[in-house]
Parts: sequence; C-alpha cells; structure tokens
Amino acid sequence: MKKVLLCRVGELTEGEVRQVSAPGFEEDFAVYMMDGQYFASDDLCTHGMVSLSAGEIVDGQIFCPLHDGAFDIRTGKATVLPCRIALKIYAVSVEDGNVFGLVPQD
Ligand code: FES
Repeated sequence: MKKVLLCRVGELTEGEVRQVSAPGFEEDFAVYMMDGQYFASDDLCTHGMVSLSAGEIVDGQIFCPLHDGAFDIRTGKATVLPCRIALKIYAVSVEDGNVFGLVPQD
C-alpha cells in the first residue's frame, strides 16, 4: 500500500473535486470532498480518456463531463450510462492535516 498525498485538510470545499498527480504514478487521481468527508478515485473515466475531476458531483455521484455518465463516489459503481465499468476507488486517511489516498501496489 502506498500513501499518496491528495491535498491538505481545508483545501477543498464541500462538493469540490480536484485532480491530483502523484510522483511515481502514471495516472492521476481525483480527490473529493462530500458530506464533510474525503474520497478518492482514479481520475480517468472508465468510458473514455476524460478527467472526471472536470465533472460535477450530484447526489453522491461524479458525472463525467464528456457523455454525462456517472459513478457512485463511495463505491465506484457505474450508475449512469454510458459508464458500465466501475471506477477504482481508494481508501482515504487523514493525518496531521494531510489527506492521503491508500493505493495498493502491484
Ligand atoms: S468518457 Fe466519461 S461518460 Fe464517456
């Protein structure tokens, strides 16, 4: 498991999503602030090469800006077509004012 620094506590406001590039990882992550909690996922939509962090959070889902498909931010489940493949999500830990994503290592 690798700890990836996603943001500092207080940097995101409620309902905000942000793209994060982490050293050592080719793909970006997305960090979300929702219901006062942080969540993390891959940033790329599983339907196309589009950054979900450019999308919008509505009712616990992240809507892709390209085709309006969506995923449940808590589970990664695809909830709105054309998305069918689940989004990879990551556990988050908050330590000393930093928000980390816990990313399994291959
Ligand atoms: S690229 Fe995201 S819904 Fe098509």
